[in-house]
Amino acid sequence: MKEELENLRDAALSGIEAAADMETLEALRVGYFGKKGEITSILKQMGRLPADERPVMGQLANEIRGEIEKALDARKTALEETLLERRLIDERLDVTIPGTPVTVGKKHPMTTVLDEAKDIFIGMGFQIAEGPEIELSEYVFDKLNTKEGHPSRDRQDTFYFDDEDKIVLRTQTSPVQVRVMEAQKPPIRIISPGRVYRKDEVDATHSPIFHQIEGLVVDRGITFGDLKGTLNALVESLYGRGTQTRFRPHHFPFTEPSCEVDVQCFGCGGSGCSMCKGEGWIELLGAGMVHPNVLGVCGIDTDVYSGFAFGFGLERMTMLRFAISDLRLIYENDRRFLSQF
Ligand code: PHE
Repeated sequence: MKEELENLRDAALSGIEAAADMETLEALRVGYFGKKGEITSILKQMGRLPADERPVMGQLANEIRGEIEKALDARKTALEETLLERRLIDERLDVTIPGTPVTVGKKHPMTTVLDEAKDIFIGMGFQIAEGPEIELSEYVFDKLNTKEGHPSRDRQDTFYFDDEDKIVLRTQTSPVQVRVMEAQKPPIRIISPGRVYRKDEVDATHSPIFHQIEGLVVDRGITFGDLKGTLNALVESLYGRGTQTRFRPHHFPFTEPSCEVDVQCFGCGGSGCSMCKGEGWIELLGAGMVHPNVLGVCGIDTDVYSGFAFGFGLERMTMLRFAISDLRLIYENDRRFLSQF
């Protein structure tokens, strides 16, 4: 039995020393000390030994058990250390590697100009109104005094949805005027920014999709003087105090009288340059006194109320504001372009 015990010890110690991981080590431990383990079964056989041998063998068995236990513990500690070391190496962070820069986006130049315009009008007591982009042609044309046969209703210029030309992608924000007047009694003071659509080929100044800001004021005693004062205030806020404007007679079906408003070129101060194409003036918006037919259709008493309306292109405003020479730059969203603003 002595020999058996010593063989067992030698095999155990070299086995433990060679154990490469915790699982192997645990398997060895069970192999020796488990219920059916080798040491356990040897100890069970003690009873069969002659009485004088028992204490000697018992002591030897205990010593060997102790040695194996110690070896198991030592190996366990060693394995734990190696594991920890390996984890520390694997999970090491090199804090000297340059980080990924965090880039924060910023406002698109059109959003900047839109926000400025909103601020200016809100400061003058206007509210923001919205209307649908897919609109009834009744609202885009008929209720705006634009009769059948008017050129702006032409299929060549306008995106219709149906064969009867009843539903249309709005070509202007003016239908919002009608929607507001139908829903609300004067006094009315609104602006309505939004997307509009026309069948235009893309070039440096045209796009089939663009944005307008519509304005509408209806109240007792509103005159052309109010229109001029309001638009002059807008222009001075956008382009600086003292900026000159010019009101030219024009025609819109839904305003009478109508005008176009030019601003003195802020590129050259009026002497003529490439920005104003030598004119000294830059066309900015369309405006006029709301046509009595339009007020009437919306159920507003023209004996009591009058109003003015105006509309301008947001892209155009933005291009003038930031001296952008090509409309396409505004839509391409090239970050090299956008990062300049
Ligand atoms: N809707 C007109 C356009 O698209 C602009 C405008 C609006 C003119 C309101 C007068 C009054 O050209």
